[in-house]
Amino acid sequence: MWDEWLTKSKPVMPVIVIDDIDTAVPMAQALVAGGVKLLEVTLRTPAALAAISEISRNVPEAIIGVGTVTSPDQLHAALNRGAQFAVSPGFTPNLLAAASEWGGPFLPGVATPSEVMQAREAGFTKMKFFPAVPSGGRSMLKAIGAPMPEVSFCPTGGISAETYHDFLALDNVFAVGGSWLTPPDLMSARNWQAIKDLASDI
Ligand code: 3PG
Repeated sequence: MWDEWLTKSKPVMPVIVIDDIDTAVPMAQALVAGGVKLLEVTLRTPAALAAISEISRNVPEAIIGVGTVTSPDQLHAALNRGAQFAVSPGFTPNLLAAASEWGGPFLPGVATPSEVMQAREAGFTKMKFFPAVPSGGRSMLKAIGAPMPEVSFCPTGGISAETYHDFLALDNVFAVGGSWLTPPDLMSARNWQAIKDLASDI
């Protein structure tokens, strides 16, 4: 799924916090217009689930996913609203079981070799490396890649417009995530042109 999606979208996934439901659709339209179509709406605000439905219904070019999923109930709620993929900052046995039962694209969060091994044992070979920079950044990803080259990562956490290229250059990185494409100041100012420009610059 990711391979197909990455033929349609730039390999940078905005990690989005929606405070105001009215911003969801124009923000998604701005990102999509800039070629960024994989959108991770995090379950960090009361508006998040409604934002996923709105984007799913009104922005058909968007590939809408849910982030900050920490329980099976959250996963199911977001899937019911139209999420096409799901991302977690970590994993638990229950969450891995729910994601396996669903069978769709789920990125468990990992930060150590043992976590990578546990998620791989559960059948996952694509994972979120989080928090990427505090957990060792590029050198950690390179080190993990030596013994486990079949696993690839979407690093997020501490990555910026200045550093995302360096992560994408690694063999075991398939996409990069971060909040810099939808900063709170541009979101609250509803500056969709500036958000489109940030996406276009990728
Ligand atoms: C995440 O959940 O992936 C992070 O909150 C994104 O981290 P950033 O704000 O440092 O980009």
